[in-house]
Amino acid sequence: MNHSNAWSNPSLVDSTEAARMAASLEERARRPDQIQVNATLLDVLAPLSGERLLEVGSGSGVLCRLMAPYIAPSGRVTGLDISPAFIAQACRYAAEQGMAGSIAFAVGQAETLPYADARFDAAYAARLMLHVNRPDVVLREMMRVVRPGGRIVLMDWIGKPSQLIVPIGN
Ligand SMILES: C[S@@+](CC[C@H](N)C(=O)[O-])C[C@H]1O[C@@H](n2cnc3c(N)ncnc32)[C@H](O)[C@@H]1O
Repeated sequence: MNHSNAWSNPSLVDSTEAARMAASLEERARRPDQIQVNATLLDVLAPLSGERLLEVGSGSGVLCRLMAPYIAPSGRVTGLDISPAFIAQACRYAAEQGMAGSIAFAVGQAETLPYADARFDAAYAARLMLHVNRPDVVLREMMRVVRPGGRIVLMDWIGKPSQLIVPIGN
């Protein structure tokens, strides 16, 4: 399976390959250009102490761990991903870094988020939309689960090496 397909449905890869892909997300997040774009995402999202955040397509959870110190101790970051193997790995990384209390992970689909309306203060998706067939449906779901006045931020590739960050009011 080539990787562009694998990222769209990593549930189809075996656990060894899923672990390798999760590790590659961690590795990528350590690259200077990605540190910079993730820091910009953090700035635009501007998480506050006590907030409830949702990351859609959370992968290894590296961005959940980036956000967690800002919403702690009473807030919570929820990371949702279609891949049970990625979610298991994300739980391990969060526990290893002492952040399990501030982050919850769940298996689910971006197109049908398993959350009530207005459940979150803010939601974000990074490097996800290019892997889904219906980004419009995903965005509508994100808008549904974020409270009125909350924030939605999307970050994705728009062609190497550019990345685009789009904040959307709700
Ligand atoms: C390239 S990774 C990005 C992970 C993370 N956001 C980051 O920036 O490191 C894309 C993630 O989206 C997940 N994904 C793809 N399609 C999905 C869908 N329809 N619903 C939920 N997650 C999905 C994949 O399993 C993968 O973890």
